[in-house]
Amino acid sequence: MKRGANDRLTVLISRARIARRVRQLGRRISRDFRGQPVLLVGVLKGASIFLADLSREIGLDASFDFLAATSYGAGSESSGQVRLVKDLDTSIAGRNVILVEDILDTGITLNYLARILRQRRPKTLRVAVLLDKAERRIQPIRVHYLGFSIPNDFVVGYGLDYAERYRNLKDVCVVQSGVGFSPHVLPSKKKQSQRKGRA
Ligand code: PRP
Repeated sequence: MKRGANDRLTVLISRARIARRVRQLGRRISRDFRGQPVLLVGVLKGASIFLADLSREIGLDASFDFLAATSYGAGSESSGQVRLVKDLDTSIAGRNVILVEDILDTGITLNYLARILRQRRPKTLRVAVLLDKAERRIQPIRVHYLGFSIPNDFVVGYGLDYAERYRNLKDVCVVQSGVGFSPHVLPSKKKQSQRKGRA
C-alpha cells in the first residue's frame, strides 16, 4: 500500500505470528465455552480485523455485534470519560459475551465498556485483546484472552490506524512519521486515537 512520504514502518509482529496466536486464542475460547454459543462484541473500528480472524478460529456457534466509543476532553490527555457513539443492536442478557479489542492502552475505554455491559446481565463477560501496552495503564481491566504484550511504541496495521491509515497492513508495525516524530513524545492520551489527524 502507499505510505506517507515520511512514514517509516517496521514490522513488530509478523502476520505469521499473529495468525498463530489468534489460532491459539480461538482454540482456548472454543474449549472454555464448549457446547455453548458466544457473542463476539467488537469495538469499532480497530477490532474489526482481529474479530474477523478470531471468529474463524472459534469452533462454536458465534454471533457478532459491534460498539463504538469515543473518549473526550479538551486537551490532548484523555478526560477519562467515554461516550458510546454506537450501541449494540442486540440484548446481551444471559449470553456469553466476549468483548474484542485491538489494543489496550490506558484501559479507560475497556473499563467503561466492560462496566456498562456487565450492567446488562450477560451470563459471562470476557475480554479478548490483541495488543496490550501494560505500562500505559491508568484504569484496571482484566483480560482473559491476550495476544501480545508490547512496548509503548506507536503501532499500526491489522486494524490499527495512524490518522485512519494503515489499518489494512497484514503485520503490526511500528510507525515513525515525519521529521522529529517519536512515538514516545506523542501526546500521551489514547495515543491510538490521537493519530486521527492530530498526530
Ligand atoms: C483505540 C483502541 C481502543 C482504545 C484503547 O481506539 O481500539 O478502543 O483506543 O485506548 P485506551 O485503553 O487508552 O482507552 P481508537 O479510539 O483509536 O479508535 P479506533 O478503534 O477506531 O481506531
